[in-house]
Amino acid sequence: MKRISKSIRAKFTLVFISILCFSCALSLVISLIISNVLKILNINFYYKGQSITQSVLLISTLIICAVIGSLTVFFVTKQIVKPIEYFSDSTKEIAKGNFDVEINYKSEDEMGALADNFNAMIGELKSMEYLRKDFMSSVSHEFKTPIASIQGFVEILKDKNLPKESFDEYTDIIIEETKRLNNLCSNMLRLSRLDNQIIQSEAKTFSLDEQIRKTLLLLEEQWSKKNLELNLNLDKVIYNGDEELMQQVWVNLIGNAIKFSNNEGYIDISLKKDKQNIVVTIKDNGIGISEEAKSRIYEKFYQGDPSRASEGNGLGLAIVKRIVEICNGDIIFESKVYEGTVFKVIL
Ligand SMILES: Nc1ncnc2c1ncn2[C@@H]1O[C@H](COP(=O)(O)OP(=O)(O)OP(=O)(O)O)[C@@H](O)[C@H]1O
Ligand SMILES: [Mg+2]
Repeated sequence: MKRISKSIRAKFTLVFISILCFSCALSLVISLIISNVLKILNINFYYKGQSITQSVLLISTLIICAVIGSLTVFFVTKQIVKPIEYFSDSTKEIAKGNFDVEINYKSEDEMGALADNFNAMIGELKSMEYLRKDFMSSVSHEFKTPIASIQGFVEILKDKNLPKESFDEYTDIIIEETKRLNNLCSNMLRLSRLDNQIIQSEAKTFSLDEQIRKTLLLLEEQWSKKNLELNLNLDKVIYNGDEELMQQVWVNLIGNAIKFSNNEGYIDISLKKDKQNIVVTIKDNGIGISEEAKSRIYEKFYQGDPSRASEGNGLGLAIVKRIVEICNGDIIFESKVYEGTVFKVIL
């Protein structure tokens, strides 16, 4: 019985047999009644002098059977096609962009499974649509803030009597804000390119430890400003991959470690290679990541600390995550608020 309830084919066969038996039985009963009535009324049919009453009865039984069968099929199939009508209506709604539809059809058979999968698909589409809208509003917000600030300061600069110090201060802010916009555009372009990239397109062999050292030189201004202590423990590792993409990973992770460190803090960077993996660990004793932020740090435009929102756009870790995925690697982190954060990249 369970197997029948799970298979549309078995259900249809059962329905078909039931309809067949039902219409045969009903038409037989009707023709028996007609035959008795004919007998009582003594009615006979003749053709060319021969009685054809039996044949007439047989043909009328067949016709009655066909009519009853067709009518029953007509009404029963209406029930069977009902879920298909639901699907049709729902797909029309989805095509119009309305994802608030759900198919309320519960069954153990394939149609029930289709309805469940369909509902799951609508759920996915809905969350993607939400992400798209959310992404657009984040992009607009990230652009609007620096543009509004530039506009405000440029208007102040028009004042001919502005003291020299204020002039310098405001032009510095304008330069900072344009840098931020420039950075935002580069990161968005980078991320959009990475989203469409599946493999490391420009793989070559290079020294990972050299690359990490170069990255630290590149970021020297930032870590020396905070007087951070750097502890390096780098094995010599030759890696085959896209040099520029890997550089992005270290710039972002070490950049974050510096940005979220307090003055006089430390950053430990280690590079280890065993038989299977290359592991890069970047550890800081900075502000740490709150429990709430932990599940969101890889989201585009997410920034955990609103007071530092002006120091970036929240795209860094989204870029890192995507690059590590492209390299078939993995990235994990551990963090405690006020104690620090460890990021581990496994290649
Ligand atoms: N080492 C870290 N210590 C503490 N918090 C961190 C650390 N790394 C990342 N985070 C948290 O994760 C958030 C997202 O990081 P992400 O690098 O994507 O953005 P961002 O650094 O704020 O901006 P951007 O990288 O675009 O300059 C940060 O805003 C911060 O809250
Ligand atoms: Mg960052």
